[in-house]
Amino acid sequence: MCGIVAYVGRKLAQPILIEGLKRLEYRGYDSAGVAVIDEKQQLHIRRAVGRISVLEDTVRQNKLPKASVGMAHTRWATHGAPTETNAHPHTDDSGCIALVHNGIIENYVALRKLLEEKGHKFTSQTDTEALAMLIGDLYADLKEKNHMQGQSLLQHAVQAALRQVEGTYGIAVICRDEPDTLIVARKGSPLIIGIGKDEYIVASDASAIVEHTAQVVYLNDNEMAVLHPGQFRTCTIDDIDVTPTISLLENKLEEYELGGFPHYMLKEIFEQPNAIRNCQRGRAEPREGRVVLGGISGIARELVKAKRYILTGQGTAWHAGLVGDYLFEDLAKVPTECTYASEFRYRNPIVEEGTVLIAISQSGETADTLAALREAKEKGATVLGVVNVVGSTIARETDAGVYLHAGPEIGVASTKAFTCQLSVLTMLAIFLGRRKFMSQSQTEEMLQGLCRIPDQMQMVLDQSDAIRDIAEQFCKRENWLFLGRGYHYPVALEGALKLKEISYIHAEGMPAAEMKHGPIALINEGMPVVFIATRGMQYDKVVSNIEEVRARGGRVIVVATEGDSNIRRYSDHVIYVPDTLEPLQPMLTVLPLQLIAYHAAVLRGCNVDKPRNLAKSVTVE
Ligand code: G6P
Repeated sequence: MCGIVAYVGRKLAQPILIEGLKRLEYRGYDSAGVAVIDEKQQLHIRRAVGRISVLEDTVRQNKLPKASVGMAHTRWATHGAPTETNAHPHTDDSGCIALVHNGIIENYVALRKLLEEKGHKFTSQTDTEALAMLIGDLYADLKEKNHMQGQSLLQHAVQAALRQVEGTYGIAVICRDEPDTLIVARKGSPLIIGIGKDEYIVASDASAIVEHTAQVVYLNDNEMAVLHPGQFRTCTIDDIDVTPTISLLENKLEEYELGGFPHYMLKEIFEQPNAIRNCQRGRAEPREGRVVLGGISGIARELVKAKRYILTGQGTAWHAGLVGDYLFEDLAKVPTECTYASEFRYRNPIVEEGTVLIAISQSGETADTLAALREAKEKGATVLGVVNVVGSTIARETDAGVYLHAGPEIGVASTKAFTCQLSVLTMLAIFLGRRKFMSQSQTEEMLQGLCRIPDQMQMVLDQSDAIRDIAEQFCKRENWLFLGRGYHYPVALEGALKLKEISYIHAEGMPAAEMKHGPIALINEGMPVVFIATRGMQYDKVVSNIEEVRARGGRVIVVATEGDSNIRRYSDHVIYVPDTLEPLQPMLTVLPLQLIAYHAAVLRGCNVDKPRNLAKSVTVE
């Protein structure tokens, strides 16, 4: 969703800001803008609707002066249409201060009314402008009273304004009267301060910082930083000093580059064997028959004794949770449910003693997932994180957790994070199972299977061209079904979601048995139906479902186990995956579905990495 980059230092701000915005593009946005303060203490703003390239054209035509303080923003419209007037940065009506904002100011209507009554004139429909105006109004008051000699009036104005704000924010503020000051603050929307030599690059996402420095400070909620070239201070919005903790960014610049692939999504699909190796390295130990998860060692006994597990997340992460539900009940024999975080948070859930909630999230910033974990914590649950982004809010707010180590995921449609989530949930289930009912030999067998997955994934990925041919035959069809049973029911959901997200084809995923209860009415001549029919407990039942589809003219694409020649009799196309234990199969069977979605979208001319209306990280409700 919205992205922020801000700079204060001694270099030219403009290229750093624009490059930073490009790094944030993947998060999803519909307009963009940049503001700088020049050497003559003038504030300059450029805004544009559409891609960063449009903003670049605007800046080329209407040049920005040299400046070494500034900020930039990508906006994902919430309050007001994606227009130039609604794009950030916003200013107060005197043009003294400028602000970029991620999040939602919930009481903006009341604030706006109050400020309008004082004579202020608004130009946009955004909630953000109310905050810009409020800071400007308070700043003007402080300036008039002029009783704060030597102190940053801007800092006091920002603090006073934030105390009146309800809602969430990550903000950056600059002021033409204090041309070497950048102020940033956070509540609910992430901000990271990159520390360079005599300079600071602040961003809502590490991808915009990594090429400048690896040293960062993660701001916590209700904290702010006042930054000047070469010095900074962190404090709360009530002005209490906070000692900053300097962390090191794990990921390298190359991990954010395309590296020869046409799209990030394809790159990330092909990165999965290595991502899984990194995820399992040092954790899955087949020779010793044990799982070592450093991030949960402190509470291992509590986890083993837990009476109930709740797995939660949104989107693809929720699908991983559904697989986790099967894994936990199957391997660890512990009552488990998987629930949408957005539903859990509002349904006044029952959280009894001995409940563990696992929040699953690639970004670690999804607003609903974060709220669900806070709700569970409030009610006394132990909360674990299964998160990719190191240092993200969910990672920091959980009692313990397991990082995915998948590397940065830039493609909006999640791929490698999903399979790494499955890997972590499998390791957690084995970890618990071994301490309860699983024998040493069963554990070893499972871990050996897990360690073979990366090579087996490669065998599936090697079929990408053949899968493209299948996608080509059906990519013009506007309705698809994805069906699976047991462990493959969530995989069917994920296959349908991938296709919807990036190719805009209408697709439904469901348990194969559910088809007869309604969706079978949709099947007509030529409709593509994708089945996951690998060898396992419900194989014969899936084959019956395939026959039902064929009898109604549907075209059947089956993901099957290598060596199963029998299945060819029932299907139009077969994509084979290597044989593995049933609980591990989703890590392989999802790959052909990711590739079908990718190729179908490309063949339909869709922008795979920047699908319409979608955001990589949904930080508002
Ligand atoms: C958005 C993304 C999905 C993702 C979901 C949850 O909808 O487009 O790909 O699965 O958010 O995100 P998270 O970062 O919590 O895994």
